[in-house]
Amino acid sequence: MKNYWNSIPEQVKRISILLIVIVAAFIVIRANLVPKDFGELGHYRTSAIDEIIAQNLKYGGEILCSECHDDVAEKKASSFHKNVSCEVCHGPAADHADDPDSFTPTAPKDRDTCPICHEYLQSRPTGFPQIISVSHNPFKPCKSCHNAHDPTPPETPKECSACHKEIFSVKSLSHHAFVECKTCHKTKDNHRLSPREFIPEKPTSRNFCGQCHSDEIVNNDEIPKISMTEHEPKYVCWQCHYPHLPEAK
Ligand code: HEC
Ligand code: HEC
Ligand code: HEC
Ligand code: HEC
Ligand code: HEC
Ligand code: HEC
Ligand code: HEC
Ligand code: HEC
Repeated sequence: MKNYWNSIPEQVKRISILLIVIVAAFIVIRANLVPKDFGELGHYRTSAIDEIIAQNLKYGGEILCSECHDDVAEKKASSFHKNVSCEVCHGPAADHADDPDSFTPTAPKDRDTCPICHEYLQSRPTGFPQIISVSHNPFKPCKSCHNAHDPTPPETPKECSACHKEIFSVKSLSHHAFVECKTCHKTKDNHRLSPREFIPEKPTSRNFCGQCHSDEIVNNDEIPKISMTEHEPKYVCWQCHYPHLPEAK
């Protein structure tokens, strides 16, 4: 026997002792520290059921909210947020539903709550409305433009003047007042939704202005004419004439 023990390699001996200690510890802990009612009904303590039942409910549920806030519930029911429950945004409010005066739930008036669902994430389903919150109308709270209970996006303005107010005002008082923006800037409709992605075209050559101002062209007599070959031929026109206020003097 002694020989047999000696013939076992040193590291196997150490690991066997360690194993025996672990198994012994497991048996001792299992017998003394695991609650007695564990395993009676499954892989949990039977008494846990009573403890959970005794806990206070924190969430009231949308049906309860709707009893008093029927106006909000009705509005939301036909909106994009019909499947987003009240307490997702307002926090647990069962106490409030029991006794409205005891405490008033808060409303998310910042820019942090909505992006939990709407921040751009590649893994969201295709077509789910997403934004990049740092660049989507920054600094203003979401609720200043979106009604959380009926969040249809506001209509983006169509007129160039809505976003280019200064250029529009300047041009309105200039000789080009009646030359439309689109005459000089071919603009895709998407420009108003994603201005930086769909950039309008700008005139690129003297000949563009020559379409109306060249003395070789017969058009409206009231449009002042110049000779394209003699009138400062070395420069493009807008080095001297601001196209939105092209006054010559
Ligand atoms: C028994 C009726 C009742 C129920 C049920 C009820 N509320 Fe209210 N709630 C009120 C009353 C009354 C007020 C106004 C009290 C106040 O302004 O302090 C109010 C105020 C609020 C406000 C704050 C309005 C504000 O001006 O800031 C929110 C948010 C709100 N309730 C959400 C909920 C949610 C979410 C639920 C469901 C869990 C709910 N309520 C259930 C009666 C109720
Ligand atoms: C997507 C988030 C969101 C959901 C879902 C939501 N709310 Fe709101 N709620 C808000 C925000 C944001 C405000 C603050 C609006 C403001 O101050 O202009 C608000 C305001 C309120 C108010 C104050 C009065 C008012 O009409 O502006 C009440 C009451 C209210 N919510 C109840 C509810 C109830 C009841 C539900 C469920 C039927 C619900 N909300 C669902 C975000 C939400
Ligand atoms: C729990 C997730 C969740 C939260 C929080 C949430 N939303 Fe939504 N939102 C949705 C869902 C779901 C839709 C519907 C998407 C669909 O119809 O495909 C939606 C739709 C929208 C739309 C409509 C976009 C479109 O398709 O035209 C806007 C705008 C919007 N939410 C703004 C907000 C704002 C503002 C807040 C914060 C007050 C907010 N959401 C909070 C889940 C959420
Ligand atoms: C200054 C006003 C303004 C503010 C503030 C604003 N939005 Fe918008 N939002 C818009 C307009 C306008 C549109 C529709 C045009 C567009 O797509 O840009 C829109 C569109 C959306 C859409 C739909 C995008 C899609 O692809 O269908 C979502 C979602 C949205 N906003 C969420 C938010 C959230 C979340 C916040 C706060 C972090 C917020 N918005 C703040 C004006 C605003
Ligand atoms: C919703 C707002 C909005 C509307 C509406 C709009 N624009 Fe713009 N536009 C912008 C923004 C923002 C930029 C700046 C893009 C940048 O600096 O990268 C811009 C840039 C431009 C530029 C300069 C491109 C460049 O190369 O520098 C032209 C030209 C222009 N817009 C013409 C128009 C015309 C013409 C219309 C009307 C048909 C129009 N825009 C309507 C927001 C708008
Ligand atoms: C007669 C032709 C003409 C008309 C009309 C015109 N533009 Fe321009 N616009 C130009 C030219 C040319 C440039 C390039 C100027 C440069 O590169 O210095 C330009 C440049 C711009 C730019 C770039 C920023 C700037 O100030 O240089 C914007 C934005 C712009 N136009 C918007 C508008 C809008 C909005 C309208 C209508 C309200 C309009 N334009 C009408 C010819 C025109
Ligand atoms: C679609 C035709 C059209 C185009 C293109 C056009 N203009 Fe004009 N331009 C006019 C008209 C119309 C007037 C004003 C006539 C009036 O005052 O009754 C005018 C007036 C002017 C004036 C006269 C100012 C004065 O003090 O009398 C200048 C300078 C001018 N344009 C420069 C330009 C430049 C530079 C471009 C190119 C970027 C250009 N225009 C493109 C139609 C055009
Ligand atoms: C180097 C600067 C410069 C350039 C480049 C330039 N102009 Fe002028 N333009 C002027 C000056 C200065 C006047 C006023 C004095 C004059 O009539 O010569 C003027 C006058 C005009 C007038 C008014 C003529 C009248 O009879 O009232 C028109 C129209 C005009 N320019 C169009 C253009 C067009 C189109 C281009 C480009 C093809 C252009 N200009 C390029 C400086 C310039």
